[in-house]
Amino acid sequence: MLLTLILLQGFSHALAANHGSHWTYKGLHGQAHWSDDYPDCRGQAQSPMDIQTKSVQHNPALPPIEPQGYRSPGDGAFTLLNNGHTVEMSLPPSMFLRGLPQTYAAVQLHFHWGSRGQVGGSEHQVNGETFPAEVGNVANPAYDNILDWLKNIQYAGQKVSIPPFDVHELLPRQLGHYFRYNGSLTTPPCSQNVLWTIFRQRARISASQLERLQGGLYSTKVANSLPVPLVDNYRAPQLLNQRVVFSSFPMGSSAYSAGEIVAIVFGTLFGCLSIFLTIHFVVKRIRMKRIREQKDVVFKSSSSRAVSGNSQRP
Ligand SMILES: *[C@@H]1O[C@H](CO)[C@@H](O)[C@H](O)[C@H]1NC(C)=O
Repeated sequence: MLLTLILLQGFSHALAANHGSHWTYKGLHGQAHWSDDYPDCRGQAQSPMDIQTKSVQHNPALPPIEPQGYRSPGDGAFTLLNNGHTVEMSLPPSMFLRGLPQTYAAVQLHFHWGSRGQVGGSEHQVNGETFPAEVGNVANPAYDNILDWLKNIQYAGQKVSIPPFDVHELLPRQLGHYFRYNGSLTTPPCSQNVLWTIFRQRARISASQLERLQGGLYSTKVANSLPVPLVDNYRAPQLLNQRVVFSSFPMGSSAYSAGEIVAIVFGTLFGCLSIFLTIHFVVKRIRMKRIREQKDVVFKSSSSRAVSGNSQRP
């Protein structure tokens, strides 16, 4: 369930991130400090986001995304680069996208991931749910076209030419269902010129494929005697502010996945149990209150008898 974010940009100047000042995900140069050097990072239309489906607006006019030239990208090699922040694959100009307000050329794709045994890894979340990995045995062979080469680019700054392959296979099957909003690059300089498409269906890879991504790379150069693993390269969700997130599909008319069904069944059971316990305790409290009131009544009536007894005495 690794969320693959393919960033498609009309503005290639935004890719010049490597030439600015040093930044990392955690620590002194971590995401809380990005805006010191890159003021756009404190803008009002930042990415990623935790998409709250209850406030998403369905826009039936949003057409399916149509990748063109992804299946047969030609004979030219792709370049895979460890840029110290992610593994980035450059895409040839023969690849572009239809189904967007303009035609967008595919420039590059890259990944965000977590670390072994940890939850999290995706940048975007849906209703607070983050997507670390598909826990399963079924490998997605399309991803081996990239993962098989990571051993050649273990250290920051290393590049390798790889044979071209069917990039469409990296994408989820259903390209008609997605969320759409105006946001930013999720790394410095955080330029707010990205029209985001978040596919509702996730791309799936196996647990062992994920481990190759999480365990195969360093964010430091080969000459560095203290290699730092390249893990947890995801930015925290940013505020929605005045923006609206649209969906190309009506919310709630979905076919649920097995995992979602399990979650719903357990959620419902837990919900029923909570309701039962609440009723149980409320009933118990009411009973106790009644018993106390009865005692009260007994006490009051006995005291009034006592009073009336007193009053009769003189
Ligand atoms: C993104 O911003 C542009 C320009 O303000 C606007 O025309 C467009 O409708 C916005 N798109 C979305 C999905 O919010």
